[in-house]
Amino acid sequence: MFDVHCHLLPGLDDGPETPEQSLALLRAAMLDGITHIIVTPHIHLGRWENDIASIGKAFQRLARHLPRQKMLQRITIAAEVRLDAEMLPLVAARRVPFLGRMDGYDVLLLEMPHGRILPGTEKMLRWLKQRGVLPMIAHPERNRAILKQPSRLQSLVDEGCLFQVTAGALVGQFGERAEQVARQMLERDLITVLASDAHNTRNRPPNLSAGYHRAKALVGEQKARQLVYTRPRALFESNQFFQLAQGSLSLAAG
Ligand SMILES: [Fe+2]
Repeated sequence: MFDVHCHLLPGLDDGPETPEQSLALLRAAMLDGITHIIVTPHIHLGRWENDIASIGKAFQRLARHLPRQKMLQRITIAAEVRLDAEMLPLVAARRVPFLGRMDGYDVLLLEMPHGRILPGTEKMLRWLKQRGVLPMIAHPERNRAILKQPSRLQSLVDEGCLFQVTAGALVGQFGERAEQVARQMLERDLITVLASDAHNTRNRPPNLSAGYHRAKALVGEQKARQLVYTRPRALFESNQFFQLAQGSLSLAAG
């Protein structure tokens, strides 16, 4: 499986603090059946001020600790970017890393505030789309405004957003309401990908397989595979940093 939302890099956000903790999380991901990972540290102005440079540095720090260097070919870089009016020009200028490409757009993993949908959200989403950026909303099933009133999701659907649902939500890890919303989204064919959003091995471990099995039971194997394999793989393979790494590998081989 391909996991496109995971806090794996050390010392950047509320994920692992040390390379050893990152490696433990990576091992847990592999045991769960995850073969490829797009790491997505938070970029949240005023809280986690990461950028391509700090994320690249943490990636290199992890790379030095990997038991096998070949594993590097299975990990690439993006970010989970907090929606904020100040952030928009940075996104439009491609100053943040994207998940990959889809339908001719750069796909941005976009985090809304957990408690509400900001006024003007639809306008900001439209602004991004006009600039070639397709927002993939991270874990809408955990947004309190949507939990309270699931119809709030519709305006995001109408803007053409993609949706990443957390695998654990489908099996009740975030409560009954989040499970219901996740399940409704699955049945309405609104989920683009399932992802782990893993942060640590204690209470936020990678459990993409549990979500996959629940999805398979609900909508069948073919659709479930699209959520953890086909679509996230297309993102991984079109990821800019994966492609750069592939390019330098083939240069070295040539
Ligand atoms: Fe996250």
